[in-house]
Amino acid sequence: MADGDSVALITGAARGIGRACALRLAEEGMSLVLMDIGANTAEVPYALGSRSQLEHTRRLCSEAGANTEIFSGDVRNEQDVDEVMRITLARFGRLDAAVNCAGIVSPSGRSVDEISAQDWSTMLDINLTGPFRILSAAARIMKPQGSGSIINIASTAGLVGYRHFAGYVASKHGLVGLTKAAALDLAPHGIRVNAVCPGSVRDAPELEGTMLREVANALELNGDHEQLFLRDQPSNALVDAADIAETVAWLASGRSRSVVGAVVTVDGGFTSR
Ligand SMILES: NC(=O)c1ccc[n+]([C@@H]2O[C@H](COP(=O)([O-])OP(=O)(O)OC[C@H]3O[C@@H](n4cnc5c(N)ncnc54)[C@H](O)[C@@H]3O)[C@@H](O)[C@H]2O)c1
Repeated sequence: MADGDSVALITGAARGIGRACALRLAEEGMSLVLMDIGANTAEVPYALGSRSQLEHTRRLCSEAGANTEIFSGDVRNEQDVDEVMRITLARFGRLDAAVNCAGIVSPSGRSVDEISAQDWSTMLDINLTGPFRILSAAARIMKPQGSGSIINIASTAGLVGYRHFAGYVASKHGLVGLTKAAALDLAPHGIRVNAVCPGSVRDAPELEGTMLREVANALELNGDHEQLFLRDQPSNALVDAADIAETVAWLASGRSRSVVGAVVTVDGGFTSR
């Protein structure tokens, strides 16, 4: 199928990397279904994407020429996941790419022996079980089509450990494992599953993302946190969300047709040290 007739679902699309992916896939000519929780939740200690930010992403994608639906839903909620798939099929009749971008970085900032069971569950439910729900529901639509691309936004925390981020690190290592196992299950059906591991992504004002600042907050870092993260970057630059979106666009397209179960690192060399 030509990209111009293709349909992509992106979770976590209200802002940040999800918004960058939506804009890039709109440029590719794909029709879009954008999902985000669109509200704060008591279990997460910082502001999540809002409904108005999700609407803003839709406006930007529509201006770029994409047919765009939005849905406020929580990847922890099975009914919300079913509903976003129902909306996708009702509006567009198919699903070619599913991008699991929704995620949280905190509650974090504690030694592993100080993490509460509830904080652990919240992290795993949003960052690992949420992508599993989206992936399996997407696969049920893609199997009869005989094609599809599922892209999991993991992290360098899916490849190496970080002190005081055991929940986040475990969730992202789990997502890398899910990617590889699901790739083997779904490859015979023409469905490719791959992961992208971003390094430290700059919080760009036009994308309204806050994750790097939240990492700094969890670590109680003082001063210019971008400068502190830069010290660990071999290429002496933080990653731009557009660089992640470019990789996602490639994985969503037929240009990557032989790429199956891959874990693509986009981190400026951080994990090569
Ligand atoms: N920013 C970075 O430096 C960085 C680095 C590595 C990996 N990542 C990963 O990239 C992804 C996007 O990060 P970002 O920087 O854009 O963060 P962000 O906080 O700006 O965006 C994440 C979005 O996910 C949404 N979301 C959170 N919980 C949700 C839920 N339960 N259901 C639906 N939506 C939910 C939020 O509302 C928000 O809009 C995350 O999975 C993150 O772990 C980010």
